[in-house]
Amino acid sequence: MISLNRSVSFKQRAQSVGSPRFFKKSWVSRLFRVHIVLGSVISCLLAISGGYLYVIPNLTKAFHESGFSGFEKLDRDCDVFDGNWVLDDSYPMYNASECPFVEKGFNCLGNGRTDKEYLRWRWKPKNCDISRFNVHKTLEMLRNKRVVFVGDSMSRTQWESLICLLMTGIEDKQSVYEVHGSKITKQIRFLGVKFSSFNFTIEFYRSVFLVQHNWSPKHWPRRVRSALKLDVMDDISKEWINSDVLIFNTGQWWVPGKLFGTGCYFQLGDSLRLGLSVANAFGIALVTWSSWVDAMINSSRTQVFFRTFEPSHWRNLTLRQCNITTQPLQEAGGKDQSPYSETVFQVVKAMRTPVTVLHITPMSAFRSDAHVGHWSDNPSLSDCSHWCLPGIPDMWNEMLLSNLLPEKENEINPVNGTQISRDANGLDG
Ligand SMILES: *[C@@H]1O[C@H](CO)[C@@H](O)[C@H](O)[C@H]1NC(C)=O
Ligand SMILES: *[C@@H]1O[C@H](CO)[C@@H](O)[C@H](O)[C@H]1NC(C)=O
Ligand SMILES: *[C@@H]1O[C@H](CO)[C@@H](O)[C@H](O)[C@H]1NC(C)=O
Ligand SMILES: *[C@@H]1O[C@H](CO)[C@@H](O)[C@H](O)[C@H]1NC(C)=O
Ligand SMILES: *[C@@H]1O[C@H](CO)[C@@H](O)[C@H](O)[C@H]1NC(C)=O
Ligand SMILES: *[C@@H]1O[C@H](CO)[C@@H](O)[C@H](O)[C@H]1NC(C)=O
Repeated sequence: MISLNRSVSFKQRAQSVGSPRFFKKSWVSRLFRVHIVLGSVISCLLAISGGYLYVIPNLTKAFHESGFSGFEKLDRDCDVFDGNWVLDDSYPMYNASECPFVEKGFNCLGNGRTDKEYLRWRWKPKNCDISRFNVHKTLEMLRNKRVVFVGDSMSRTQWESLICLLMTGIEDKQSVYEVHGSKITKQIRFLGVKFSSFNFTIEFYRSVFLVQHNWSPKHWPRRVRSALKLDVMDDISKEWINSDVLIFNTGQWWVPGKLFGTGCYFQLGDSLRLGLSVANAFGIALVTWSSWVDAMINSSRTQVFFRTFEPSHWRNLTLRQCNITTQPLQEAGGKDQSPYSETVFQVVKAMRTPVTVLHITPMSAFRSDAHVGHWSDNPSLSDCSHWCLPGIPDMWNEMLLSNLLPEKENEINPVNGTQISRDANGLDG
């Protein structure tokens, strides 16, 4: 019963995360646009498989109802994704050079970055506070559990961040290890870190598109080297099912350069769809994902999250030029919105399974100071997509964890300077 109630409240939270900004600004026209995308998605899918039929009534219903329940809730519930960054000397929460699970490319201080203010910003929602990370409570909460991250390198960063946060509470560092002794690399498909004294694992599955990628048959046009099967989940998806917390992302690879530029095109059923746009393909893949979650995930056991698109701050992407600032931007400059994130919201609203959308797009948009820049594993290239650790992904994890804590622990604090105190809870005690 308790878990049922919690599920409902998670669902409501997921629906209410759209900020007033999001709904007001040509809300109708956007919804219409997404509707068109998903409309074509549905008809494609219909043509292939009757298995998707049950999605249709859900989607239609959602499109007619969506948003309005959100309006009602906006005044009462805190929108944790609407806020600003404030300086806080209690950050950062760990030293990347002392955490064996930060890959070299993300350890900016270790790679020579000298300015340090970027480490000290905390995300402050307008009408509440995010529960502060409490390592001992979190370690206890995760006992005997399985936390699974699925996605691209941004997901790997968040996986690394969570492990390092948790390791601050572990004295015997040797008791935390990768289950196969694997090293962290950019291509590796599975990494699983076990906290043996608490019997839980924090796992990462690399699945940059979530759907299945295949080399293409010989009879296809020569330029088609591989294809994404938009209607089939990645073949490692069976590994994600029996988890307690499941966090997805995708987005960074849905760009023409990484797809068509490498000879990768889209496939539906047995047929190649050369004319399909990346945006439409993304929508189809997400509907495939949502059907998979609704069919495979037991929501009494597994809490499902989807993290929205991570903005980058390139000055000129073609030339791979960017300037890392020393302070966050004053204005998000449009980077606080992404059509990918909007598609995530629309697809999630139509699902039966409660899915919490971690809408990190707006908060991350201000942080042109937080990317790895030249302080990566390849100083000759600048990188304004990935983030330094410690840094922004730690905040994504604080948001994730505040959704996992039992309701009582997670009560919204009135905005009068009181917070769940880190001293009292003993972050490093
Ligand atoms: C992080 O740890 C390394 C290695 O122990 C140390 O040299 C460095 O000074 C530490 N950095 C900070 C910011 O504390
Ligand atoms: C460790 O956790 C698993 C579930 O992930 C459970 O099946 C197993 O019994 C636990 N082991 C111990 C020793 O508690
Ligand atoms: C779903 O998970 C709950 C809680 O772990 C369990 O009691 C239930 O039997 C599961 N249902 C199915 C259909 O596996
Ligand atoms: C980036 O650089 C290329 C090559 O110099 C140039 O053609 C393009 O206009 C630049 N893009 C932007 C956004 O400045
Ligand atoms: C950004 O860096 C380039 C060199 O990569 C430099 O020419 C330019 O002046 C910098 N711009 C700003 C605003 O600092
Ligand atoms: C803040 O509000 C809480 C709950 O309303 C109250 O208990 C607390 O005393 C207030 N703190 C201050 C510093 O006003």
